[in-house]
Amino acid sequence: MKKRIFALAAASVMAIGLAGCSSSSSDSSTTAADTGTTAAAQEAAASADTTAAEEAASGEVANKDKPLVWFNRQPSNSSTGELDMAALSFNDNTYYVGFDANQGAELQGTMVMDYIQANIDTIDRNGDGIIGYVLAVGDIGHNDSIARTRGVRKALGTGIEVNGEIDSTPVGTNTDGSSTIVQDGSLEIGGKTYVVRELASQEMKNSAGATWDAATAGNAINTWSASFGESIDIVVSNNDGMGMSMFNAWSKDNSVPTFGYDANSDAVAAIAEGYGGTISQHADVQAYLTLRVLRNALDGVDIDTGIGTADDAGNVLSDDVYVYNADERSYYALNVAVTADNYQDFTDSTMIYAPVSNQLDASAHPAKKVWLNIYNAADNFLSSTYQPLLQKYDDLLNLEVDYIGGDGQTESNITNRLGNPGQYDAFAINMVKTDNAASYTALLSQ
Ligand code: BGC
Ligand code: CA
Repeated sequence: MKKRIFALAAASVMAIGLAGCSSSSSDSSTTAADTGTTAAAQEAAASADTTAAEEAASGEVANKDKPLVWFNRQPSNSSTGELDMAALSFNDNTYYVGFDANQGAELQGTMVMDYIQANIDTIDRNGDGIIGYVLAVGDIGHNDSIARTRGVRKALGTGIEVNGEIDSTPVGTNTDGSSTIVQDGSLEIGGKTYVVRELASQEMKNSAGATWDAATAGNAINTWSASFGESIDIVVSNNDGMGMSMFNAWSKDNSVPTFGYDANSDAVAAIAEGYGGTISQHADVQAYLTLRVLRNALDGVDIDTGIGTADDAGNVLSDDVYVYNADERSYYALNVAVTADNYQDFTDSTMIYAPVSNQLDASAHPAKKVWLNIYNAADNFLSSTYQPLLQKYDDLLNLEVDYIGGDGQTESNITNRLGNPGQYDAFAINMVKTDNAASYTALLSQ
């Protein structure tokens, strides 16, 4: 019997849900406090007091040796971007699944630039010769967010390099072009030269600390448009959650093209109403890979099974949708631009990817239990696109997944709910902060 925990906001509700989940085992009273016990003590307790179901779930494998996948937020230093290889190679069955941030960032920047060039006759709304844009930044310490800011600045010629990399710091406001973080770009079309200016940019973090915050972006565009709205010709966002919030708050009514990232269904639908475009990070491939690497490790088969090599059900990915970097132990899905030209092919962001849509046979691939968390239950992309996809693939892969929704702010809100890792066969982790992998691996190492 599959029990799932959906993205619930209140921790108390979640606690009840979890208790319900473990009701089939004799261990339902286990709390976070028990994580202080040693592996040996836990094992002794488990063998002394266990049900058949729990034994099947935990087997004899120590938590530290169970398959582990990090996804969407890559273990890395939030100031330098350096990968946390200790976390990425925690055990032989540890991987990261995400998307190619640089390829996607370049696509997003190019998409905006292509739009400007195609619409040059109408884009400069106030006719001052300056093509002004504002930029919503998701999380200044998240490498994917940083890559997207750099990609847009690079394509528009507004970036300034610091130590060989484009500075990704938000500018605040820069309506007069005096910022030292960005520069004015210049664009020559049909004998006319335009200035391209980043009028404003800001990290969209709410007062409680949640990043990529859509409501904050809606407030920001209201503030910006109230003081220099006629100068804003383009709105760009690190993601669709914030982009749609700005579109709905202001740009839709003012016919200002707005560009996001993620290809969430609502953003794709909005392209018909003037949303400029978005990038699909192939969440249908990522969600599959997230669970697939766990399935393969649990089955003890080659990690490429059902990925680069067809599995016994015929599931296989072609190399135009993902890359694997063995040194980084990371799978990266490839991105696709979604614009007025092709959005009809992307209307349902929760549709599974056909080449990997075949059900695995339950006798050859028996049910296993997976603990999986979403760092922020309120994140548009993760809750409206990624999790629904995971919930379709978990059935196909015979994985019984408990979904834990975090508050987007505190790691402990999530780690508190990893109180009994012995109940699970594998783990899928989406950290609040990319520096915090050890908060999770410490629990698995006990
Ligand atoms: C998505 C964002 C999301 C973030 C959360 C990114 O890959 O594009 O929309 O908020 O992940 O970590
Ligand atoms: Ca202008």
